[in-house]
Amino acid sequence: MNPDVQILRGLRMAGEAGASGAALAKQLGVSRAAVWNRIEDLRRHGYEIEASPHHGYILRASPDALHGDDLMARLPSPKAIGRDIRVFTETASTNDVVEKLARDGLPEGAVVFAEAQSGGRGRLGRTWVSPAGVGLWFSILLRPRLHPTSATQLTVLAAVAVARAIERQTTLRPAIKWPNDVLVGHRKVAGILLEMSAELDRIRHAVLGIGIDVNVPAEAFPESIRTVATSLAAEAGHPIDRPALATQVLAELDHLYARLNAGDFHEVGDEWMRRCSTLGQHVTIHMGPRAVAGRAEALDEDGALLVRTEHGVLERIVGGDVTLDRRA
Ligand code: BTN
Repeated sequence: MNPDVQILRGLRMAGEAGASGAALAKQLGVSRAAVWNRIEDLRRHGYEIEASPHHGYILRASPDALHGDDLMARLPSPKAIGRDIRVFTETASTNDVVEKLARDGLPEGAVVFAEAQSGGRGRLGRTWVSPAGVGLWFSILLRPRLHPTSATQLTVLAAVAVARAIERQTTLRPAIKWPNDVLVGHRKVAGILLEMSAELDRIRHAVLGIGIDVNVPAEAFPESIRTVATSLAAEAGHPIDRPALATQVLAELDHLYARLNAGDFHEVGDEWMRRCSTLGQHVTIHMGPRAVAGRAEALDEDGALLVRTEHGVLERIVGGDVTLDRRA
């Protein structure tokens, strides 16, 4: 394991009690001088590490920046998601980086964050605005044993994980809008873009891209979406700790993905339904040139939305853009 991961993990576990240089050196199998060098390097990256003669090293504060080693240090034993975390200062789209890693044969669970994206993509060919240092823009490589028609389960799982993490790290109460937007107070704070490579009967790999508008200032959103988009900081009234939220989302995802692999998707689906503000509403779903209007009744076992049209027909919807029908 990378020494910085071990040092940061040791410091976080020790907390106020501090971790002695000798203990860290022993754990890493290096000299105390080598530990000191690593500590100095972490300080240069913005980690405030106090060196006390009695308590050893104490981590007092960490920067509001994403560091792969620190994120891995905060996730002690991921089953799959978060075993390998990479952070880029800027990339076009993290989904593209992960797609390349998938083709290179990387095992599932690798996560790529970018502090900024120059070509962030949203669903339905939209642009995803991804300014530097204020959001969480990341993608995860998955190799699920799922039939391609069940791929929606992955976005359902991701929406639940993001909603849970926001709830645990803030005082906000997020809701889910089908299929996978996370809203706070009726405005979107996070979106999910699933892209995959599949054969007829199996998914080769899936790239789960997640964008969370954490501390994005209102003026960073294009004017056209300012009434429908917001950030967690704007809603909470104070900045949100991005590395802590990132860790929480990955931990929730890892946990829920293990449940899915154990055949327990129905429980995740039930939670999605409880959190979903679309169910029970009169909606119109636009799917390219086609539109279906009706009452959103339920989610099926594959994550598709079941809509009862005005003719009483139950339509199964797997994708599209939902608008609430306020006249209904
Ligand atoms: C949507 O709601 O339209 C989906 C938005 C998904 C945005 C994320 S940010 C990280 C990953 N990389 C991308 O280019 N898109 C996803």
